[in-house]
Amino acid sequence: MSARSGGTVTHPSGDVAERAAAGFSAQFGGQASGRWAAPGRVNLIGEHTDYNEGFVLPFALPMRTVVAADRQDGEHWTVWSELSGEAITFGADDVAEPGRVTGWGAYVAGVVWALREAGHQVPGARLAIASDVPLGSGLSSSAALESAVLAALLDLGGLALAPALQPRLAQRAENVYVGAPTGIMDQSASIRCRAGHALFLDCRDESVEHIPFDLGAAGLAVLVIDSRAPHRHADGEYASRRRSCEAGASALGVAALRDVGIDQLDAALAHLDDEETRRRVRHVVTEDQRVLDTVALLRAARVRDIGPLLTASHVSMRDDFEITVPEVDTAVEAALAAGALGARMTGGGFGGCVLALVEADRADAVAAAVTDAYAQRGFTAPGTVTVLPSPGAARLL
Ligand code: GLA
Repeated sequence: MSARSGGTVTHPSGDVAERAAAGFSAQFGGQASGRWAAPGRVNLIGEHTDYNEGFVLPFALPMRTVVAADRQDGEHWTVWSELSGEAITFGADDVAEPGRVTGWGAYVAGVVWALREAGHQVPGARLAIASDVPLGSGLSSSAALESAVLAALLDLGGLALAPALQPRLAQRAENVYVGAPTGIMDQSASIRCRAGHALFLDCRDESVEHIPFDLGAAGLAVLVIDSRAPHRHADGEYASRRRSCEAGASALGVAALRDVGIDQLDAALAHLDDEETRRRVRHVVTEDQRVLDTVALLRAARVRDIGPLLTASHVSMRDDFEITVPEVDTAVEAALAAGALGARMTGGGFGGCVLALVEADRADAVAAAVTDAYAQRGFTAPGTVTVLPSPGAARLL
């Protein structure tokens, strides 16, 4: 269920919270004692900066994962998912160390493992999961699942864990139990975002500021375009970009690339021998600056003016970080040609989604232009949807 695992899944129709509750009743009998929701995310700007201890600016999507759950006796967790259509059960032995539960259940077992590792008494539970977050599209379906399960288990067990500490725990589930070396952005977005705002996160100290991002008031929309690009070794490429960044930081004698300011970039580049490392470093340092510039413009309510920064971010990912693929480049070019104010790939790369900032009344025309450009190139038709910044993880009433 990795957000970068490739493929597109069609979700069942109907309200996701009702599907989770109905799934619980059908699978386990009776009513769940509660429902907890956590969203997917798009990243407005700040790509591959999180594990360099830099800045990101994601916002939560309206698409959510919902867990309907209640306690059960003993150290057993029984989990049903509408996507697999089956229930799995795991016990204390399976969460004694990472890797014993595999497949989609690993994200759930990983949260139980991480909570226990942190010293919490995790209650046994029955959980039914439904989701509207597309899988394999770079919209953080994994983080949504981890965050919804975490919210459910914390409440069911009456466990105290401050919201600011929850993303790190969910990230440990993914990094250590599942084994994916991702940064802190996705879980932070799913847990800490607010409706109508983007989340300005400093990935070094995890301090946040909620930046108003009122698209409706500005007459704007964010169009999310699912590139439908096939999986292209994304996991290995992600790990290799991470290694390049660490090598760059080490060669420059800094703890993380976050420590290289934009005014030090030329000197830093001159210091590096390897051309590829130079490109990787240039992306991260300029991307951190673009996040800061975007935040400054949003604070000044100059939403339209962030467009060129979004597009510059894409060019940097394409030419310096080298993580784009023809489908996403085509989507960005077609969106810009059709009048988008800015457009960029969002997420880890090698496929996934593109976001375009558009005048609200141009969203359909931009979507149609991207679809036409895809048809001309013989690509599988893209998915398109407009989204608003939505709430983070919460218990549903
Ligand atoms: C994936 C990872 C994040 C982040 C992005 C790139 O989504 O899960 O931690 O590194 O890629 O910005």
